[in-house]
Order: sequence, then structure tokens, then C-alpha cells
Amino acid sequence: MSTQQKQPGILKAVRGTRDLLPPETALWNRVEATAREVFARYGFGEIRTPVFEDTQLFARGVGEETDIVSKEMYTWEDRARAQSEKAQSLTLRPENTAGVVRAYIEHKLDARGDLQKLFYIGPQFRRERPQRGRYRQFWQIGVEVLGPVSSGSESPVRDAEVLEMLATLLDELGVRGWELALNSVGSAEDRKRYNAALRAALEPVKARMCEDNQRRAETNPLRVLDSKEPADQEIIDGLPKIADFLDDSSREHFAAVRAALDACGVAYTVNPRLVRGLDYYTRTTFEFTVPDGQGLGTQNALLGGGRYDGLSEMLGGPKAPGIGFAIGEDRLILVLQEQDGSRSVDAPHPEWMWAKKLDAYIAPMGAERNAASLALARELRRAGLSVEVGDGTFRLKKSFETADKVARNIVILGEDEVASGTATVKSFATGAQVKVALSGLTKLLRQA
Ligand code: HAM
Repeated sequence: MSTQQKQPGILKAVRGTRDLLPPETALWNRVEATAREVFARYGFGEIRTPVFEDTQLFARGVGEETDIVSKEMYTWEDRARAQSEKAQSLTLRPENTAGVVRAYIEHKLDARGDLQKLFYIGPQFRRERPQRGRYRQFWQIGVEVLGPVSSGSESPVRDAEVLEMLATLLDELGVRGWELALNSVGSAEDRKRYNAALRAALEPVKARMCEDNQRRAETNPLRVLDSKEPADQEIIDGLPKIADFLDDSSREHFAAVRAALDACGVAYTVNPRLVRGLDYYTRTTFEFTVPDGQGLGTQNALLGGGRYDGLSEMLGGPKAPGIGFAIGEDRLILVLQEQDGSRSVDAPHPEWMWAKKLDAYIAPMGAERNAASLALARELRRAGLSVEVGDGTFRLKKSFETADKVARNIVILGEDEVASGTATVKSFATGAQVKVALSGLTKLLRQA
């Protein structure tokens, strides 16, 4: 290659996406392991749905007029396979609830008759403006509980149980100061009446609102309540409240959810404006937040969820009331790192690496000992030990320095050792150095 030739440009991760590297990924794994462990205690099983789906699923499930569907989806026309075939519109999933309900319908899980308690952990995609805690590819840890009415899927106990499980999970992860905000958006009928009242109340004032809210006032007045536009807050605060439009059964349902939470000692506040940004919600809606300054900036919603009693029917399925939530895993990690400095990437010995050193570092003395070293490593690893192998060309000093960083012991394999079926082992903790028969090495390293 001539020196004149231009170096190719460096390719970077796409805006709004990130690489997660070790050792930070150890914290992600700890969070996911804890979530799996807690979910198992509550009888949940894992579901994995495809990362992309038919665009119609989100248009019908999440709602055409939501920000997610109208502005934030990664959608493309997938090439037709044959001339006779039409191209299909596909979308990277912006959330997982619609996919789970589609799978519930497709696999006739209702025929099982019991309550389906499903959880998922996976990436979601939204074309939002990237900032701290907001990415275009982000991770959610979520659950969905749904089933035929006869399985108890409509019961307020399900709502309270899901919320109590979240409180337990956040506590076990060590998240401090979380707050639970709760509301009821009523039945589909309640929402219809409330929508009409909102539309009427917005009619005389909407001209004074921002462009987005003017559009929402026309197309989907409920979405006006999510608006963060500072200039419009006074008008929004004066709008009718959903609580005044709940029918008796929704009102009783909400009261029962609150009573069960009180009985469990899970604290919450009722926020009458919490309608959430997705159209499928009915009755209970909720968000968990952390106070400002806990790592999330303005993106303080750690997780959100609610009940979606009509979603299955909206997707052409049987009646299958349900409730679920999704935790923003990226946000959860930011909070954990902020709340405990020792978990930060910059900390010298992060606690969340579990300060776990390997059991042994094998140092071959001379390239001729490389093969024997790898064979020894294989034996030790198969016995369950964690081992790294150096290289015979390294000087002894370099081997010792590297070994001290990553392992608790160095195992030196020189010409003598290989000839006599032994190894020289030095423990970094005690400084003790011994020569042992290879047959006793596993035992020694386990104890050291
Ligand atoms: P959501 O409120 O749209 O609800 O998202 C849930 C959580 O995902 C948010 O509270 C936030 O922590 C996280 N999140 C959302 N967008 C981003 C982003 N761009 N970057 C980082 N984190 C983000 C849902 O998705 C519903 N499917 C939840 C649900 C399940 N409802 C019932 N079942």
C-alpha cells in the first residue's frame, strides 16, 4: 500500500446506540440475574419475541396517534420475495407488550386456561433525540400477566402483585428513594366519555397551546396530558380529571388495588395526570421514578406500565385482560452507578465486578511450553477453575505483572516442571511459593 493512499474513515456506533463493555456488563448481568431470580419467585416464565414485527402490530396496538408510532419507529418496506408478492412494512419493535400479546394470540395461550405470567429482557428501538438515559436502542426488562377472565386476569390482586414485585425487585437491586405514581384511566367506555369532555374543554383554549398540543387536541386529546411543554401546563392543570369519569367498577377496581398495596406496605402517590404515552392502557397505570440528581436528569421515569384489558381484542384475539410493565434497563444501570460511586466505571476496583480474580494464570517459560500450558489450562478449566494462559515469549517479570493483575495465583511451567510433571505455584495473597505434582494442582488452587 502506498503511503499516499488515504486511510479508511473510522466507523462508529450509530447515533443513539452504544457498546456495553466489560467490566460494566458485569453490572448489567447482575441486574438481569436478580430480575430473573425475583421473577422466578413470582412464577414468571421467559418469552422471547422477534425484534421486528409487522408495522400494523404497533399501529393497532400502541396507537397511530402516539408519539411512538407517529414519529419514533424504525420502519422499512421489506423487499418482496417474488414479483407477485407485495413488499411488507416491517418495524423494529419500539416496545414489547404488543409483540407478547400477538404471540399470546398466535399460540392460543388462552386455551391453556390459566394466567400467563411472562417476562422478557431485550432491546427496543425508538428514534428519539438521544440524551442521558434516552437512546435509540435501549433495553427493557418487562413482564406481562394476561389470560382469560376466568383465570383471574382482571383482578386488582394482579395489579397490586405486579407493583409489589417491582418494589421488591428495586429494593433487592439496592435502588434507593424510588417513588411510585399511580392512576386509573378507567375502562374503554370511561375513556370515551373522558375524551369527549377533554375535547370540549380544549376547544376554547387550544389555540393558545403549542403546535403539538393543538394537533393532539384534535386527534388524541388524552395525549395532551403527557405534554411537558412548560407554557401549556396551566391550561393542562385546569382540564377535567379522569378520576371524575370512572364508572363504579373502575373506581372499585382502583380502590382495591390501593387497599392491597396498603396491606403490603408499598407506598405510592396518586397522580391524576398519569395517562402514559401508549393507547392500550385501561384502568391502572403507573410509573416508578427516582428523585432528580440520581443519574437520570430529566428522564426520571425508571419504568412504566399498566393494565391493557382490550389490547388482545384490538389485535383480533380473544378477551384477555392483562397488566405489565417495562423497566428501562439503561436507566436502572445509570441510577445504580450514580447511587453507589463504587459501581461507576471509573472506580478503581468496582464492587460490581465482584472483585473476582481468576484462580490461576499459567506462565509458560519459553514457547516450547505453550502447548503443555494450554493442555494444563484445559484440564483446570474442565475441573471448574478460572484460568488464563500467558505466552512463552514473555519475560518472567512481565508474566508476574500480568498475573498479579488478573489472578490469585501464578502457575509457572518451565522445562524442569514439564519434565517432572510438576508446576511451581505462587500465591499473590500469601507470597508462598511451592512446587506441586500436577495431580495435586487442582486441589491446591481450589484451596488457595
Ligand atoms: P414505556 O413507558 O414507553 O412503556 O417504556 C417503559 C420504560 O422504558 C420507560 O419508563 C423508560 O425507563 C424506558 N425507555 C423508554 N424509552 C426509552 C429510551 N428511548 N431510552 C431509554 N429508555 C427508554 C412501555 O414500553 C410499555 N410496553 C410498558 C408496559 C408493559 N406496559 C404494560 N406492559
